[in-house]
Amino acid sequence: MACAVSHKVVFLWTVSCLLCLAHGGYNFSVHIATNAKLGTAVVNVRSLLGPEKAELPCAIVEGDPYGRFYVRTNCTVVVARPLDWLVQSEYLLKIRVGQLRDPDHLVVHLKVKVTHVLGYPPVYNVTCETPVRPYSGEKSNDFLFSSTLSVEAETTAGDVVFLKSTLGKPRPIWDMDPNDPRVVITAGNDCHIRVVMGVHALSDVAIAAELFQFYVNEEQGTFRVTCHEQSETFPDGLFELFSTYGKYKDRLRHLEGILPDVMVKLPNHPLIVMISSSMLPTKGATRFNCKLPSTRDRVVTMSLDLDAVTTLKHLDTITVDINPVGCPPDRYGILCDKNCICENGARCHGFNGACKCTEGWQGVACDIPKPGVSATTTPSDPSDIYIPANVTIHCNVHHLEATTLSLLSPNGSVTVSSAGVSQINKTIMDIQPKDGVAYMCELTDTHENVFNATILLDAGNCSPNRKGERCDETCECLQGASCDRWAGCVCPPGWTGTRCQERCPDGTYGKGCGKNCTRCLHGASCAPSDGTCNCTAGWYGSDCNVSCPTYRYGLRCQHTCTCRNDAACNNVDGRCQCVSPWTGENCDEKTATIPEPLVEILVPLASLLLLVLIVAAILYKKRRLFGVVPERVEENEALLELALVDYSPSNHNYIPTFKHS
Ligand SMILES: *[C@@H]1O[C@H](CO)[C@@H](O)[C@H](O)[C@H]1NC(C)=O
Ligand SMILES: *[C@@H]1O[C@H](CO)[C@@H](O)[C@H](O)[C@H]1NC(C)=O
Ligand SMILES: *[C@@H]1O[C@H](CO)[C@@H](O)[C@H](O)[C@H]1NC(C)=O
Ligand SMILES: *[C@@H]1O[C@H](CO)[C@@H](O)[C@H](O)[C@H]1NC(C)=O
Ligand SMILES: *[C@@H]1O[C@H](CO)[C@@H](O)[C@H](O)[C@H]1NC(C)=O
Ligand SMILES: *[C@@H]1O[C@H](CO)[C@@H](O)[C@H](O)[C@H]1NC(C)=O
Ligand SMILES: *[C@@H]1O[C@H](CO)[C@@H](O)[C@H](O)[C@H]1NC(C)=O
Ligand SMILES: *[C@@H]1O[C@H](CO)[C@@H](O)[C@H](O)[C@H]1NC(C)=O
Ligand SMILES: *[C@@H]1O[C@H](CO)[C@@H](O)[C@H](O)[C@H]1NC(C)=O
Ligand SMILES: *[C@@H]1O[C@H](CO)[C@@H](O)[C@H](O)[C@H]1NC(C)=O
Repeated sequence: MACAVSHKVVFLWTVSCLLCLAHGGYNFSVHIATNAKLGTAVVNVRSLLGPEKAELPCAIVEGDPYGRFYVRTNCTVVVARPLDWLVQSEYLLKIRVGQLRDPDHLVVHLKVKVTHVLGYPPVYNVTCETPVRPYSGEKSNDFLFSSTLSVEAETTAGDVVFLKSTLGKPRPIWDMDPNDPRVVITAGNDCHIRVVMGVHALSDVAIAAELFQFYVNEEQGTFRVTCHEQSETFPDGLFELFSTYGKYKDRLRHLEGILPDVMVKLPNHPLIVMISSSMLPTKGATRFNCKLPSTRDRVVTMSLDLDAVTTLKHLDTITVDINPVGCPPDRYGILCDKNCICENGARCHGFNGACKCTEGWQGVACDIPKPGVSATTTPSDPSDIYIPANVTIHCNVHHLEATTLSLLSPNGSVTVSSAGVSQINKTIMDIQPKDGVAYMCELTDTHENVFNATILLDAGNCSPNRKGERCDETCECLQGASCDRWAGCVCPPGWTGTRCQERCPDGTYGKGCGKNCTRCLHGASCAPSDGTCNCTAGWYGSDCNVSCPTYRYGLRCQHTCTCRNDAACNNVDGRCQCVSPWTGENCDEKTATIPEPLVEILVPLASLLLLVLIVAAILYKKRRLFGVVPERVEENEALLELALVDYSPSNHNYIPTFKHS
């Protein structure tokens, strides 16, 4: 790669130099990409000049005030600090070849043109600004987001299970080798995240292939699960399975359209998984419900236990709680595995590592001084400025020597800093509601250059718990609701009333109680905040429309039926519907019938005994044969990677409400 670049560079300067040498001077011109890595060779000055200058030392004497380049002892000009095309797209370097005291030393003019690269530098998008995780002392390897998955389903063994598992850091068993091209993660300037993985382990492929085969969306050509957020603040997330063979492989072109080199990075995978979201919650924990395609009566295979790959029935929803935890200050990326380059107090974006420079700095790493003046306020966040409040306006001079610095107020009054002071702090007492009044800091430097910076003071909020035109009324909101100057209490989902003192009326939920619970079936109520159905006895599932399995009844199917002799058991209350001739509460009493001849009873008993003996013998043999514990760990791991559904034994929380004996 480095070789290819330098060849290109060599070619470029050869062309440029033929032109400039024709004019008789030592003027050269080279190109360098704006995203060139530190240490990238720009050009070797000696080879520009020819073999007779081979031993002379070189030094940059002009044209690089902020140290973007340095010269190696062999006269190779190298990138020393990050370049930023937007800040400076051309450098005119003056390079001395030979010792200064040597009267024959040469001066070479090197024009370095910084070329634009699409998508660079990364943009700091405040829309999805992630929290910064404070250092906990020891080094942590937590991810930017932690996610908790919950499922509720019936196992083929007849248990109803409620499972919950959190994934917030790599499992010890994972091979997190950064050079292993198994996962491609992209996080764009537009807050869009995509995680693409090849399904590689055999057992994964088997399960994924089954899902694909039976549940492929004919129209889209993929197996697709969408994850919906109840309050609709966030767009749907997507889990999608692509096939690299068979009749739907054309769909890969869509994937390659999004990630051009995906097939190069994930070679030889029959199936590829993409998890994507155009906007993940970055402010607080948020719940998504992922609706699986109707699985009809098919079972879904999942690994729930170290020793067993469990098959689940009626698995219609997976609940995912996404919680943004943030990366440590010097890290970024979904896995918090990349190093930030931001300097001078700049904040680093958790998605793409873009830097939010503090005043007076610029460039992709905020390490290039930005001479000028800045205008800021205390409190710094406009939403923290209340009416009435005292706000301080600051004018600060950066990397310049000021002759005059002044603050111009909207009423025309001017505050001038005393000579030599490069800062003005002016406190405005008891600001009153006004729309966007502009204050301007103006600076004249020692070279008579004038700089200015404006700040808009938009005091629109009353202080906490205050409302009204003059902020003279109180809100007294309950449930931690916020108090809006005009609307009063803004209730959290599930609450209503002028002070948020009331729960949403029965059958409604959400923000402003604007949604209904008609989705929850069989008399289920729904959680006022997020609409989660609370099933009545005898039912389970996300919509409470799945009846308890045959031998279960009651709330969350927690009770075992006591019915005997093939009697059906009511899913709600466990009542037995006896089959004649049995009666009684558990259908274990017999109505008086003509006694059967003893032989007739004994014959079935004997054959039953024989059957039991045969089964026991088979089981015993089987155990001897297959007594070796299979390599389950690997399989579990594989399953895990399939869907990022974390049922690894080391972490999962297996809470069967009832264990079938
Ligand atoms: C070489 O570049 C310098 C500075 O860019 C310029 O002053 C000079 O005129 C150039 N010489 C020739 C021969 O182009
Ligand atoms: C200059 O030195 C660097 C290592 O210091 C080396 O990589 C490079 O190839 C050398 N360039 C030339 C033209 O000798
Ligand atoms: C930031 O992200 C939002 C949401 O995706 C998008 O609309 C906006 O254009 C992005 N801003 C920039 C500067 O890319
Ligand atoms: C503003 O400052 C003055 C003087 O320091 C103080 O008396 C007043 O309470 C402050 N006002 C507010 C709203 O903090
Ligand atoms: C103009 O506004 C500033 C602060 O905004 C204040 O200190 C000053 O007294 C005002 N001057 C006049 C003439 O109103
Ligand atoms: C202005 O305020 C800042 C902090 O807000 C303080 O550090 C600085 O010393 C103040 N400068 C002057 C000249 O009062
Ligand atoms: C502030 O500076 C900008 C250029 O940086 C200039 O266009 C503008 O006219 C200046 N504003 C005032 C009021 O001087
Ligand atoms: C409940 O809401 C759904 C849409 O969310 C609507 O179609 C339905 O008519 C509503 N039912 C009632 C009883 O309001
Ligand atoms: C669900 O409903 C039952 C009564 O049917 C109630 O006792 C229980 O507290 C409810 N659970 C939740 C989480 O609302
Ligand atoms: C429950 O309802 C959902 C949607 O309303 C449907 O997809 C599913 O098949 C139903 N399940 C059963 C067991 O009826």
